[in-house]
Amino acid sequence: MAGPPVSLSARDVGSFAYLTVKDRLPQILTKAIDTLHRHKSEFFEKHGEKGLEAEKKAISLLSKLRNELQTDKPIVPLVEKFVDTDLWNQYLEYQQSLLNESNGKPRWFLSPWLFVECYMYRRIHEAIIQSPPIDDFDIFKELKDQNFFESQESIIALCTHLQDLMKTIEDLDENQLKNEFFKVLQISLWGNKCDLSLSGGKTISQKINLINSLEDLKPFILVNDMEHLWSLLSNCKKKRGKASITRVDIVLDNSGFELVTDLVLADLLLSSKLATEIHFYGKTIPWFVSDTTLHDFNWVIEQLKHSNHKWVSKCGVDWENHIRMGRWVYLDHMFWTLPHEFSAMPHVAPDLYATLQKAHLILFKGDLNYRKLTGDRRWEFTIPFHEALNGFHPAPICSIRTLKAEVQVGLQPGQGEQLTASVPNWLTIGKYGIFQFDGPL
Ligand code: F6P
Ligand code: MG
Repeated sequence: MAGPPVSLSARDVGSFAYLTVKDRLPQILTKAIDTLHRHKSEFFEKHGEKGLEAEKKAISLLSKLRNELQTDKPIVPLVEKFVDTDLWNQYLEYQQSLLNESNGKPRWFLSPWLFVECYMYRRIHEAIIQSPPIDDFDIFKELKDQNFFESQESIIALCTHLQDLMKTIEDLDENQLKNEFFKVLQISLWGNKCDLSLSGGKTISQKINLINSLEDLKPFILVNDMEHLWSLLSNCKKKRGKASITRVDIVLDNSGFELVTDLVLADLLLSSKLATEIHFYGKTIPWFVSDTTLHDFNWVIEQLKHSNHKWVSKCGVDWENHIRMGRWVYLDHMFWTLPHEFSAMPHVAPDLYATLQKAHLILFKGDLNYRKLTGDRRWEFTIPFHEALNGFHPAPICSIRTLKAEVQVGLQPGQGEQLTASVPNWLTIGKYGIFQFDGPL
């Protein structure tokens, strides 16, 4: 049997991977440098001269990184000791071993896109941790916050919708509940349009009221396994004994508006008793511009809590309470910010794999998670999702993702070709979405 296809890479001139490495990644680095410049006086106020020196150092490390990228230099090992340094350097050696026959070295425009893109964010982090006392500075924080503030109207609409629903949730019949569940699932899907790395770090906020647009957006859902999610969770609910639990895990993606949509989904799961416990997974370091860290997670809930809008602040209070009572658990693990595809998890992070195996359902939010689920390879559109997962089956899983990279599997014969003919860049514009499920029901 043939092995999995080759990885997407910037070596394919003109591909989305190529354009990302050539244009988008340097833009993100330039923005990061600019952010450090703009915080100069803040660093000085906080740390005096040492703060200024640190700012200079971080800027020079980032400029060096941008130069390495733009001149396609070999990828160099990480130097600063951190929890994951050895794993990164081993991965680089592995990439090197793949090239030994050709005598080549891993490079930005040659190696797998997934690897070099993850590596860039890890090097940004290295530049910061090498620059004390500003070594805990989140270079993307203000962009994430801006996205949250600019999405206020949609957040108000969403929280109001949820609180309205709460009033009648106990009285809903099966069909009504299913309908509401599908609505919040779709809100969480379209919330994934708000990733900030695709825009080169420009904010994309959510201005329209999503709830009123769901019907119009339905034709853009290319794989729709929402029914599977409903059967799985409603069966769990029916069969569950008094003392037992149903745990849904959500592997989070972006902070700001998308995170609020995910928390709304998590709240509905609990209040409808489709689940009894939710585990959230976030990132340990700033990642792909907008991804959620523990700090972002707490910050968003705190902001909601202190909103002067009654229903928004009610959401904040309720959600803080879910955390306090242990119904919501936030966890992080360095695996999520490694370059490995998820099929490597059992041997790279067996503890995390074992944790995920205890879930009844795992929701993977966003595009990067999809790339890691499928190994970011040039799969044919009709290859079954199960096959592309390459042995990664910790529990039933579902990817909830808007398409922003040239990888998509599990389509109907002809579906991909038809889309290519009518919308040539359908894979990368974030306009289409999927709910793609794998697992026994
Ligand atoms: O380069 C754009 C991009 O970084 C994609 O490559 C990546 O998969 C995506 O944006 C991140 O999107 P998301 O936040 O949905 O994972
Ligand atoms: Mg993201």
